Amino acid sequence: METEIIKIDRKNIDIEKIKYAAGVINSGGIVVFPTETVYGLGANGLNEEAVRKVFIAKGRPQDNPLILHISHKDELSRLVKKIPPDAHKLMTEFWPGPLTLIFEKSGIVPKVITAGLDTVAIRMPRDPIANMLIRESRVPIAAPSANISGKPSGTDARHVIEDLKGKVDVILDAGDSEVGLESTVLDITVQPPVLLRPGGVTIEALERVAGRIIIDKAMGKLSSNEIPRSPGMKYRHYSPDADVYVINGELDKVVSKINEILAVNNGKGIKTGVLATDQTMCKYVVENILSMGDRNCPETIARNLFRLLREMDERHVDVILVEAVDSKGIGFAVMNRLKKASGQKIVNV
Ligand code: TXA
Ligand code: MG
Repeated sequence: METEIIKIDRKNIDIEKIKYAAGVINSGGIVVFPTETVYGLGANGLNEEAVRKVFIAKGRPQDNPLILHISHKDELSRLVKKIPPDAHKLMTEFWPGPLTLIFEKSGIVPKVITAGLDTVAIRMPRDPIANMLIRESRVPIAAPSANISGKPSGTDARHVIEDLKGKVDVILDAGDSEVGLESTVLDITVQPPVLLRPGGVTIEALERVAGRIIIDKAMGKLSSNEIPRSPGMKYRHYSPDADVYVINGELDKVVSKINEILAVNNGKGIKTGVLATDQTMCKYVVENILSMGDRNCPETIARNLFRLLREMDERHVDVILVEAVDSKGIGFAVMNRLKKASGQKIVNV
């Protein structure tokens, strides 16, 4: 398939380009578009055949449901059975933005979107390009993160193009994503609401608005006979090709441990990379080292993480050692992605 790559200037968005992409959505095509979290792989959410093409392009298992993206709160009512009281508060506070809410689905939402579930995930992105694309399409856009299933989500145009060129109709290239991690997924069909995936909106911020929320136990490790409430959580995720280890503990012990592993791996000829932070870059002597950012600014670390995991793969390292970060605020989502990327290989020191 021929993929058209269309550059969009964020400072001066050309509406004609957006209208063109909306036309592709309306004719059943697939458009990769930027959102504030990660890039999305989008199709007309009310067109079953188009949605099926998304699963195929991404190599996504059919039992993992998709998020429907809307551009205005008014579009919600026809997609869901009811809007619980909590939802109004959450939407007022966090929409548009990186919060996905789970509702009971209405009859017009195709089963292929929800993978047969009675619930549907809905989000209203704040990225103006995403918002204009949905508005011009006049349909909800179904979109998973724009990456081959299992890989880190696409947060910069170059990696998105690498993964999806030849598999989609259009890629809207608007540079790097602002948040860099996916949206928070919150189930509000139950009381108290259940957090299914930490993300761009922090738990602290949610609790300020909705009171107590429950953290789904699938956030940790599921035993093999447990069925996760969010099907996406059972899959290996966000994984680069290299083996990832997360080193967790007091910072000086983390640094010593990483240096110790580097020495051992060096002796064995295992090519090892380090994802460090600005504060620790000078503590390692190793060729493949990248900084995730300032430890005191977890937002920067979130923004860089997926891109850096992919850059380590481009350097063909066998092992990536990652410094754990404080799991406050968006750091909780960063640690969640690191646990998944590493397949729970956490080294506590
Ligand atoms: O930031 C984001 O959310 C990005 C951008 C493109 O919007 N999208 C994204 O989509 O990350 P995806 O498909 O990669 O992740 C959606 C997650 C999956 O873990 C899926 O299992 C869960 O949401 N999900 C979708 N529908 C659900 C439902 N009805 N009930 C429970 N979980 C659901
Ligand atoms: Mg994804």
